[in-house]
Amino acid sequence: MDLPPLRLTSEEMRALGYQAVDSVVEHLTTMPTRAVGRPPDPAELARRFDPALPAGGSDPAELLTRTIDDLMATIVHTDHPRFLAYVPGPSNYISALADFLAAGLNVFAGQGLVAAGPAVIERITVDWLRQLCGLPAGGGLFVSGGTMANLVALHAARVELGADLAVYITDHTHRSIRKGLRFLGIDDARVRTIALDTAFRMDVRELDRTLAADRRAGTRAQCVIATAGTTGTGAVDPLNDIADACAADAVWLHVDGAYGAAAVLSERQHPLLAGLSRADSIALDPHKWWFQPYEIGCVLVRDPALLTNAFSMEAEYLRETRSESVPLNFYDLGPQLTRSFRALKLWMSVHAFGIDAFRQAVEHGIELAEHAQRVIEAAPEWELVTPAQLAVLTFRPRVPDRSSDEIAQLTRRVAAATLQDGYALVTTTEVDAEPVLRLCTTHPQTTVADIESTLQRLGRSVANL
Ligand SMILES: Cc1ncc(COP(=O)(O)O)c(C=O)c1O
Repeated sequence: MDLPPLRLTSEEMRALGYQAVDSVVEHLTTMPTRAVGRPPDPAELARRFDPALPAGGSDPAELLTRTIDDLMATIVHTDHPRFLAYVPGPSNYISALADFLAAGLNVFAGQGLVAAGPAVIERITVDWLRQLCGLPAGGGLFVSGGTMANLVALHAARVELGADLAVYITDHTHRSIRKGLRFLGIDDARVRTIALDTAFRMDVRELDRTLAADRRAGTRAQCVIATAGTTGTGAVDPLNDIADACAADAVWLHVDGAYGAAAVLSERQHPLLAGLSRADSIALDPHKWWFQPYEIGCVLVRDPALLTNAFSMEAEYLRETRSESVPLNFYDLGPQLTRSFRALKLWMSVHAFGIDAFRQAVEHGIELAEHAQRVIEAAPEWELVTPAQLAVLTFRPRVPDRSSDEIAQLTRRVAAATLQDGYALVTTTEVDAEPVLRLCTTHPQTTVADIESTLQRLGRSVANL
C-alpha cells in the first residue's frame, strides 16, 4: 500500500507504540537497581550521533531501538531516586501518557474555541493551584517552567506599575530571575540586593529601610521578589513580614515558589508558607516537586486582568475563532500563541492518584531530609551547615587539621567523585561563599537506605581523597 508522506500503517504505529511503552516501563521499574548514570565522554557522543542529514528514511523499529539505547547511555537520570542534586525531576507514568496524548491529539491550547475542553481543564487545574496556595481570587496559566513563570509575572508587574520598576531580591534569589530581569530590560541599577539574615532569608528590616529610602528618592514602581524555598538551602523568606512591608505602599509582592511552593501540600509547612496567600503573583513548578515530566511551570496572579493587560493583543486572523462564549484564550494571558496542552498531565495524574498521594509524597521528601540531617549530625566526619528545610540540607566534611581552603577543595572533589561514580549524584552549592554539599530529597521513591548508603559512600570518598 502506498502511504502519503510521513505516515505509517496502523500496525506499524501500534507496534512502535508498544515498543516505546515497554522501554519507558522498563526504565521506571528498574531504575532504583541501576546507576544514576554519568556524563559520556565526547568521543562516545560523536560515535553515537551522526550529524549527517538523512535524505531517505530508515526502519522505524530499528531507529526506536537504537534511539532508546543512545538516550539511556547518554543521560544522567534526574528522575532517579538517588539523583539528589538540583531539584530532581521525579515523574509519573500517568503524566507521561498525558504528554503522549496531548502530542498525539496535537491539542492547540492557545485558544479556547478550538480547544474548549482543554481550556476548561487548564482553568480548573490552575485554580487548584490557586486554592492550594491560598490566593483568595485570581488566575494564571501553565508555562514551560519556573524561569518563564517568573518572567511572565515580572512583566505583568512592570506593565501594571510602570517601566521604571525597581526590584528587590537577595543573593539567594534564583539566577534565572536575574536572567529574566535582564531579558525584560530591567537594568542592574534598578535591582537592589537585600541582605540575608542568619537563616539565609531576606532581612525584612533592611527591606523596609531600602523600600522607604527609594520612595523618598522618588521611586514609585517597586516589586519585591521573595523566595519560598531557595534552591541553595531551602530557606523560605519571611513571607508574612515581607507582605506587611509591601502592603502599605502598593509594592508588588512576587513569590518565587518554583520548587518550594509545592510544600503547601504538607500541613506541617503551613506556618512557614503562610504569607504566600498575600502575594500579587506566584511562580511554582509542577515539574519539580509535583512529580510531572518536564515542562510545566505555573504563574498565578491575584487578578487575571493583570495578565491580560500585559499580554492581550488582537490579531486579525484569529478574529473568527475568538469567541466571547469561550472566554479562555490562553494566548491573552502569556507570551505564547501556539502552546501545548501542559495542564493535561497534572489534571490526569491528580485524578489518577488523588491529591492525598501527592501530599504523602511531598511529606516523604521532607522527612527524608530530616533523617539525613540526623545521620549527618551523628557522624563525626560531617558538619551540618544548614538544616533540613523543604527537603534540602547542606553539609561539608569535618576534617581536623585542614584549612578552610583545603576543606573547600575537598568538598568540591567529593561532589565531583559522585559524578564519576554514578551510584548517586550529589552536587555543591555555596553558603557564605564557601562550597557545601547539598542534598535535595524530593523524590518519592528515595528510601532511607538510599540516603544512608549515599552518605556512607561520600564518607569513604572523603577518607580516600
Ligand atoms: C527557586 C527556583 N526558581 C526558579 C527556578 C528555575 O526553574 P526552571 O528550571 O523550571 O526554569 C528554579 C530551578 O531550580 C528554582 O529552584
